Amino acid sequence: MKLMIINGPNLNLLGKREPEVYGNTTFEDYFKQLQEKFPDLELEYYQSNIEGELIGKIQEVGFDYDGIILNAAAYTHTSVGIGDAVKAVETPVIEVHISNTHQREEYRHVSYISPGAQGVILGFGLQSYDLAIQSFLG
Ligand code: DQA
Repeated sequence: MKLMIINGPNLNLLGKREPEVYGNTTFEDYFKQLQEKFPDLELEYYQSNIEGELIGKIQEVGFDYDGIILNAAAYTHTSVGIGDAVKAVETPVIEVHISNTHQREEYRHVSYISPGAQGVILGFGLQSYDLAIQSFLG
């Protein structure tokens, strides 16, 4: 099974960025843990701070891979384009967030990704990604 994790803007700074919200672990370290935990999966990881690049990656893998785990980060709350890309592809997309966005500022309560997503997992820290992977195995 081929799964692609796509992370949006500022998630390259995990481990350094607002650790009280996002924790102390870098995504690279966490990704290694995921690869060790799910050795039978073909797990890949892509990060970009650029909206069009995220759309390009969704289009590139979205007719081929078995699943996409997408944390569009701040673009979640603004991007009609990423939301449309999620709807356009055949590969099921699970939307994830590290923090519980509903406990935070009101502008984070809106998601342009959710209408096209198969499911949404948020608020479990980095474990949100693990839970999303498990949803494809169930
Ligand atoms: C986030 C939540 C977003 O509101 C925020 O802009 C992020 C990260 C999360 O994983 O909790 O960058 O997607």
